[in-house]
Parts: sequence; C-alpha cells; structure tokens
Amino acid sequence: MDIRGPRLKKQSDAALEFTSSMPSDGRIARQVVRVNMAHMVALVRSREVAEETASACAGFLLSVSPTTEPGAKSEDYHQQLEQEAVDSLGVGKAGFLNLGKSRNDQVASAVRMELRAAILDLWEAVLDLQTSLLKVAERHASTIIPGYTHLQRAQPVTLAHHLLAHFDALGRDAERLAQLYPRVNQSPMGAAALAGTSVPVDRDLVSGLLGFDGLVRNSMDAVSSRDFLVEAIACAATSMLDASRLAEEQILWGSKEFGFIELDDAYSASSSIMPQKKNAVVSELVRAKAGTVLGSFAAAGAILKAVPYSYNLDLQEATPHLWRAMDDATTSLRMLAGTVATMSVNADAMSAAASEDDSTAVALANYIVKTHGLSFRQAHSIVGELVRVSSEKGVPLSRIASAQMPRVSAKFGKRFSIDESTARSLLDPTNFVKAISTSGGANPRFAADELARRRKEVASSRAKLRKLGSRLRASEKRLLRATSGLAREVKTKE
Ligand code: ARG
Repeated sequence: MDIRGPRLKKQSDAALEFTSSMPSDGRIARQVVRVNMAHMVALVRSREVAEETASACAGFLLSVSPTTEPGAKSEDYHQQLEQEAVDSLGVGKAGFLNLGKSRNDQVASAVRMELRAAILDLWEAVLDLQTSLLKVAERHASTIIPGYTHLQRAQPVTLAHHLLAHFDALGRDAERLAQLYPRVNQSPMGAAALAGTSVPVDRDLVSGLLGFDGLVRNSMDAVSSRDFLVEAIACAATSMLDASRLAEEQILWGSKEFGFIELDDAYSASSSIMPQKKNAVVSELVRAKAGTVLGSFAAAGAILKAVPYSYNLDLQEATPHLWRAMDDATTSLRMLAGTVATMSVNADAMSAAASEDDSTAVALANYIVKTHGLSFRQAHSIVGELVRVSSEKGVPLSRIASAQMPRVSAKFGKRFSIDESTARSLLDPTNFVKAISTSGGANPRFAADELARRRKEVASSRAKLRKLGSRLRASEKRLLRATSGLAREVKTKE
C-alpha cells in the first residue's frame, strides 16, 4: 500500500528524505495514535465503518508502539502508522482509518495535543522558579541591597523587593501560558484536508474524546493556522527573556566585584587551566538560550509568513522550532530554579554596598522641600552641589551638608542649616527604605503582606495547572476506555 498509489511514480530517495518529517515526528506519535482512536470511535458511531473493522482498527491502535525509528523511510508518522496498520490488518480493514480525515487536520490536532502538555510543563517550571525566588525573599525581607539604574547604584531597596520584581515578571509569564492554553486546546478534527468532509464525523464527539475544549470552527482555519504555535514560542521567549535577566544578575552578583551571592558548586564549573575558577555556567547558558528561543520565534514567524491558505508543507518546518523553544525554556527555568534555591547570600556585602555612593541623596532633597518650602528642582540642585563637594573632598555627605548647607542654600534665596546627625539619619539606607510610603515600594514593613500575596498567587496558579493536568489525564483514560470498548465489542459478539 502506498499513498502515491498509481498516481505518481517512485519518489527520489533524496527528495523523500528531504521532505520527510520523521526525524521530528517522534514527538507527536502518541498523539497521532490517539487521534486515530477518536476518529475511529466517531466513524463507528455514525455507522460509516462496520463494527468488526472498527474493532480490528481499535485493537491495532491499542497495541501499536508509537515510535519512529531513525532512518525509517516514510513521509511522516501519519503515513507510517497507516502502513503498519495495513501490514497488520490488511488494507481491507486498515484502509478505513483515514476515511473522513487527512494528515492536515490530524497533524494540527496532534501538535495542539502535545503542546498542551508542553505548556503545562513550562508553566510548572515558571512556578517552581517563582517558588525558589519567594523562599529567598522570605529570608531577606529586610536585607538592604543597592538598587541599580544604568547598572549604577541608584537607591537602596531590600533583597526581597528586588527578587519580587523578578517574581512578578515571571507571574505574567505564567499568566500568559494560562491564557494561551484554551486557544491551543481546540480541535481541528473533521476539517479533513481543508473543506470538511461528506463523511459524517461528529466533530464534537472527536473533540471531547481528545480532551479539547471546543472546535477550530472553520475547516480551512483548522488546517492552516499555526498562530497558536507562534504564540506558544512567544510565551517561551518572553519567559526566557525574563529568566535571562535574572541569570545575568546571578552572574554579576556572583563576581568578586559584587560579592553579593555565591552559587552552589552543584551549578558551577571550574576551568581546565585555572584551578581556582568557579564559573556560573548554568546561568550563562540560560542567558544564551534566551537567544536560541528567540531564534525559534524568528524562524517560525519567517516560515509562516505569507504561506497561502490552506495547508502547505511549510507548516511542517515550523513544528520542530516549537518543541525546541518549549523544551529549552522549560529546562532553563528548571535549572534556574535550582540555582536560586541553592545560592548563598552575603547580606553584609549587600548592605555595605548600599551605604556607599550617596544613593539616598534624594531623601535629603525631599527633606529640604518639606522643611524649607523650596521646589524639588531647587532642592535637587542644592543636594547635587553638596554631593559634588563631598566627593571632591572625600568627606561624607552628612558632614558636608552640615558644614555647607547655609552657603549653598543661600544661592537659592533661603539660607538654612542642618545638623550632621539629622543629615546622617536621613541618609541612612535603612531609614531610607523605612520612609518609603507608596504601596508596592521597597519598605520592609510591606514585605509580609507582599510575600503573602505572592504565596497565594503561586498556590492558585498551581491549582489551575493541576486541574488542567488531571483533566488531560481523565480524557486520555476516557479515550482508551472507548477504544478498548470498541476493540472488545466485536470479540464478545464473535
Ligand atoms: N508531515 C506533515 C506535517 O508535519 C503532516 C501533514 C502533511 N500533509 C500533507 N498534505 N503532506 O505537517
């Protein structure tokens, strides 16, 4: 049996190898078998296939091992599966498997089904990374650390606050995956090649058996669309962009120049020549893989651009980029979660760094506005000048403030002074963060509440994830039960 049939003469081996999707079809093989099961259940329900034939097909599908051998000569797993069925049951029976369906609706269905699981895996990895961040944040609710802009010390924050910023970005990544899931989980089956089919296939029945939430309604859209795939890669890429920024900070913070953290040996490597070296190789690779995943996004987008409707083999070329992106993102996030969970934090180095560089100077400006009625821009100028003098003389800002405030403030038409201890207290990093009043700011007083909020968020996201996972497993069981029923039915009648 050959689908080229009497229509075409033999294909060149090289062309077959070039066009075959077998090297990447292993990923969807199990799903392809399931699609065949559900479709056969629908065919027998609408009496398009005799029970005996359906039973034989069901028995075959239950027994087949969904694998692709490297080097197997076939256009794809869809064709190989049918060939195996024909070899086992004869074309008189197995030849009904593809009544009313095409590889076009089948592959779109199988990719969507396999992607569901990949989305749940990535989602879980995001939650695990968030959980790791949360645990470190809980231990460091009031550890003072410099906050940076332009990679220059800017204003003190707490370590918890900094880590929660990463946490929240990842939270949106999880949210995006949750929103993507129902768009992916729609059934193309019944679209057949592109137009639908005269064979009465109950689309809702097949959709339900495959655990889909509903139909990709338009049959041409069902076989042509891969926006779900691009969107999934975009979600993976966004998570990786977020992860890469965290990974980059781990690398910086682990350097002697910062000395803020030390990554665990379990996630570090040494050098072949420099025996003293300890390199943050996991974080480095996460940073790099963000680029790889972005590459998959660019590749898939470029492949799909301007492909005319409906199915073209171009679509096949996009699929491996999907798996690569989802797998790279999932593994990277899992690895990163491990590095965060095991890293040690040098709180002393962090707070020492936070008290250098006058990073609390704005507190002095705000004080001048409040107590002396100058505008913020005037106060900003006064403090700017004091900082310049302080750094020129190498004398602490609080002392310069008390010595020179009268002179500098007089330039702005108001002569006033400040004593050194008031200035020192205003400029103290701990006092600085404690004075923050805006919600969502770095005041350690807010930490307990903010952390509790995040714990709840992770728990509810995890609950949603679990529910989707168990729904998937339940639908798989239902499908297997329906297929076994079909396989048994005739045997008991015999
Ligand atoms: N191997 C194809 C893919 O992965 C399956 C569909 C092929 N359809 C076709 N008409 N050649 O997209």
